[in-house]
Amino acid sequence: MSAREKLRQLEELRERTLEGGGAERLARQHERGKLGARERLDVLLDEGSFVELDRFVEHRSVDFGLDTQRIPGDGVVTGYGRIDGRTVYVFSQDFTVFGGSLSEAHAEKICKVVDLATQNGAPVVGLNDSGGARIQEGVASLGGYAELFLRNTLASGVVPQLSVILGPCAGGAVYSPAITDFVFMVQGISHMFVTGPNVVKTVTHEDVTFEDLGGAEVHSTRSGVAHFSHRTEIESLQAVRRLLGFLPSNNAEDPPDRPSNDPPDRADDELLDLIPDLATQPYDMHEVIRRVVDDGDFLEVHSGYARNLIVGFARLGGRTVGVLANQPAVLAGVLDIDASRKGARFVRFCDAFNIPIVTFEDVPGFLPGVAQEHGGIIQHGAKLLYAYCESTVPKLTVITRKAYGGAYDVMSSKHIRGDLNFAWPTAELAVMGPKGAVEILYRRELANADDRDARVAELEKDFRQKFAHPYLAAKRGFLDDVIDPRETRARLISGLQILQNKRQRNPPRKHGNIPL
Ligand code: HXC
Repeated sequence: MSAREKLRQLEELRERTLEGGGAERLARQHERGKLGARERLDVLLDEGSFVELDRFVEHRSVDFGLDTQRIPGDGVVTGYGRIDGRTVYVFSQDFTVFGGSLSEAHAEKICKVVDLATQNGAPVVGLNDSGGARIQEGVASLGGYAELFLRNTLASGVVPQLSVILGPCAGGAVYSPAITDFVFMVQGISHMFVTGPNVVKTVTHEDVTFEDLGGAEVHSTRSGVAHFSHRTEIESLQAVRRLLGFLPSNNAEDPPDRPSNDPPDRADDELLDLIPDLATQPYDMHEVIRRVVDDGDFLEVHSGYARNLIVGFARLGGRTVGVLANQPAVLAGVLDIDASRKGARFVRFCDAFNIPIVTFEDVPGFLPGVAQEHGGIIQHGAKLLYAYCESTVPKLTVITRKAYGGAYDVMSSKHIRGDLNFAWPTAELAVMGPKGAVEILYRRELANADDRDARVAELEKDFRQKFAHPYLAAKRGFLDDVIDPRETRARLISGLQILQNKRQRNPPRKHGNIPL
């Protein structure tokens, strides 16, 4: 065969690798509102940038008639490409080939791109659409999963890992996405569970649909497994692109700067009137964030889960920051179990990837109650505290209103290495709110008071004058300054500039023991 004939043969072979499980199965995929594995990569990556690896890999099984069913690529398309010009490694499971199930060879392909990503310092994006372990391969397939879990774990904190769930993701298969940094799901299409509705029915006699057990809605609002939920695959894949725009490619790089025309010293008059006069009245902390960050552009993470704490990415003066903010409009912004877990994971992600943390604080404390105590608020709250304490990236804090009790300490206080801590004049830093304090301090006196309500009001007023302001803390240096709210943006941007070369190390150790 001449070289040209061999080239033609290669072209034919390559053509066949594009077929996957065939046109009929692809059509079925489309009928369900799903894209094919390659179509998804086209949406995800910069046009024409995808380079495939391992297109000729086949499974090695001979049992269950598999020796006559070998499909090149073995149900997963792997390789690398670019997003906004930056390299990412990708895998995209092909449901048309054995239901996207994971064989030993399929796992080896995925592991290869995760290894390449880790060694070369670029993110991994996995598009998951799979019936799980390839049943015919038994333990070889389970071993393949374990190889992947190990690699996900070793890559954690080295390169960003993103999982997009675009079909079933069941059984042990869920633990690869669960180890990665961000999970994206699509409503009506993605389902994640350890055991499906049939097993649930057998074991617990509960009737539940796929969607109610492990759909996007459930995981993005109740379990917190999913960080993002979208209506369509295309929206989801575009959101992956947007998120990566905020992130560095690896833990040795800084996030990419994106200069904006938003003036760094832009003052916002509206910030002055945002805090209601009444301390118990809510306001929307999103408003504060949007008015401060570049172009009002805020990518919220976990927007439907533990909404009493807002987390997400934005830019200040062109630099990526991770924002954590108590949300007075939900549960008065209290810290509970879910909010603590959500915040802790976010802080750790930012710290691992050199992303400065900006905290907006208005927190009345930890949520009281039997359910919270029995659910382990002590341990879960400690996660957030620990995460802030161990982080060494630049940390800036703005107290807009309440900073009460233990929550004051937790939310990036000066004492746990907050670098620059500011308060608005409306800030109140105290062990607790005036009402609770007065009831405790003057219990005996109030029990005998003639006009209890009037006396309480008088004592509360007195307490407010003593504690409900930022100046005691400022006198101690626990706050670096009390600032005009309108200047918040300018102060944060100049703060980020002076902290740009921050170097801080924790004591050498194998690893800490965060209260998981
Ligand atoms: C081999 C599989 C498969 C699997 C699906 N297929 N799952 N082949 N191993 N795990 C094949 C089907 O035979 C079928 O082949 C094609 O994929 C499409 O499957 P359908 O059932 O027709 O599709 P659908 O009706 O959409 O149902 C999808 C599904 C269902 C819900 C995923 O297939 C299913 O329940 N599969 C089994 C899921 C499961 O229990 N997996 C093991 C989980 S435990 P044809 O040739 O007809 O197109 C696990 C352990 C991981 O994964 C361990 C890690 C530690």
